Amino acid sequence: MKVAMKEEVFDLKPLKKIVRIGQKEGWSLIKILQQIQIEYGYLPKELLKSAAELLKLPYGKVFGVATFYAQFHLTPRGRHIIQQCDGTACHVKGGTRIGKFLRDELGIEPGETTEDLKFTYEVVYCLGSCGLAPVAMVDGKVYGELSVEKMKNILKTLE
Ligand code: FES
Repeated sequence: MKVAMKEEVFDLKPLKKIVRIGQKEGWSLIKILQQIQIEYGYLPKELLKSAAELLKLPYGKVFGVATFYAQFHLTPRGRHIIQQCDGTACHVKGGTRIGKFLRDELGIEPGETTEDLKFTYEVVYCLGSCGLAPVAMVDGKVYGELSVEKMKNILKTLE
């Protein structure tokens, strides 16, 4: 059985398998959702509904867990994840300018992904590198002492 979305169709076979194994091995709901996200890349509402039905849990509970934890994503993520820090140190040292540049350049707001699924842009509040402020993490790598120019060059290096 397949569930149709606007443009996407999800094959429910992997989801059913994850739920089956999870139930057999007594996985927590969080672990089941983690496995579903690994399989599909994110947690679309349609899959959460199917998971809730299979687990015989209220949809509100499954949705609540999926939205509570920052590790879960309900929309597709980009191939490149840009996390711009707007914690106090970065904010004071010009993080706002970097954020404005990213919003203008990518045409999206924090938490959104470009239509071509190339970039996801997020704002975070301290990456633990305050001494290098302003800072951003791109695909897991920290870039410090950022300027708009430097950010522009980083974007250019990403396919
Ligand atoms: S406030 Fe930006 S790294 Fe700490």
